[in-house]
Amino acid sequence: MKIKRSRYFNFRNISSACLEFADGINIISGDNAEGKTNALEGIYVCSAGRSHRAQKDKELIKFGEDTAAVCVEYDDGRRLCQAGITYSQRGRKSCEVNSAKIKKMSEFIGNFRAVLFTPEHLSMIKGPPSSRRAFLDSSISQLDPVYVACLQNYNEALENRNRLLDAGSFADDEQLRLWSWQMAKYAVTVSEKRAAYIKKASGITAVIFEDMTSGREKLTLSYEEERDEESFIRLLTENLEREKAAGTTLYGVHRDDILIEINGRPAKSFASQGQQRSAALALKIAEGEIAKSGAEGYPVFLFDDLFSELDPGRKRYLTRSIEKKQVIITTCEAQGLDLEAARVIKAHAGSYELIG
Ligand SMILES: Nc1ncnc2c1ncn2[C@@H]1O[C@H](COP(=O)(O)OP(=O)(O)OP(=O)(O)O)[C@@H](O)[C@H]1O
Ligand SMILES: [Mg+2]
Repeated sequence: MKIKRSRYFNFRNISSACLEFADGINIISGDNAEGKTNALEGIYVCSAGRSHRAQKDKELIKFGEDTAAVCVEYDDGRRLCQAGITYSQRGRKSCEVNSAKIKKMSEFIGNFRAVLFTPEHLSMIKGPPSSRRAFLDSSISQLDPVYVACLQNYNEALENRNRLLDAGSFADDEQLRLWSWQMAKYAVTVSEKRAAYIKKASGITAVIFEDMTSGREKLTLSYEEERDEESFIRLLTENLEREKAAGTTLYGVHRDDILIEINGRPAKSFASQGQQRSAALALKIAEGEIAKSGAEGYPVFLFDDLFSELDPGRKRYLTRSIEKKQVIITTCEAQGLDLEAARVIKAHAGSYELIG
């Protein structure tokens, strides 16, 4: 997978821009608040169908404008392709791949494959379980449309079930039971696919982390074993009274977590700043390894502010590990990076200029 260019129209602080990328290392440099992360975010939404940091799609539309659009042109190993999204203030969002409108999000996500790492991803290590679920959901979704569909169906059933529990009118136990069955049906697939992904990722992250720390630190990932449909149903029926009291669904894959340990201790409680960053990066590099496929090769790596807070050994490892991949790195200090960049783009107030 190689990105050729990205185009923006009223996207965040970018009125109109086209960025051209080379194979290898591309750097977007510039001062704070110039539009470096916005440029990466635009590329990422063309891959994941949603932003990693916007709560609502509307946030992506330039202040004061009605519509926004972003698209990427890329080579998927077979041909030149194009994927893009347009947004409107009225909440309309339309996705296209190779000029064909795509109705289902599950069919849009992952046509163009990218792995994004931003400082927000540090919360995968020390933040709440929802950050680790977001990692799993975004990485598996790019590879597996069935996962996207199951997760959507699960979340719909969960919302409906929660609405009943929240309303406090429990006359309709039958309806609650129906939603529990729906949830259980989809939870099995979601849980199985998460377990399989973590199994794969844990082997890869262990090696990456060992290399990154010259063998001094050991990273392990684990996930509570998946359950079958019957045990999900049991969880959701046996605890109904507690759930009624709480007014919400207390059990299911929407409560899942990954246990991340460094040298046998939970990273959530004990990891240092640099260790958090290294562990989050190891997970992201592993995401890229897993997403690598025969024809397409590696996904495009988007690294927001990659090198800060890392010691020289870890930096060296990273520099080595991004060689031979296509990466787009943002930084305030292009000079400080010890990298052979193929292209350097300078961001200034939502405009971009090729400077090297
Ligand atoms: N919808 C929007 N419309 C217009 N401007 C926006 C919108 N959303 C964000 N911005 C602005 O875009 C600017 C650039 O943001 P961005 O996150 O890309 O900065 P950056 O170059 O990555 O900076 P830093 O080095 O601090 O990370 C910010 O000033 C922000 O307020
Ligand atoms: Mg930024």
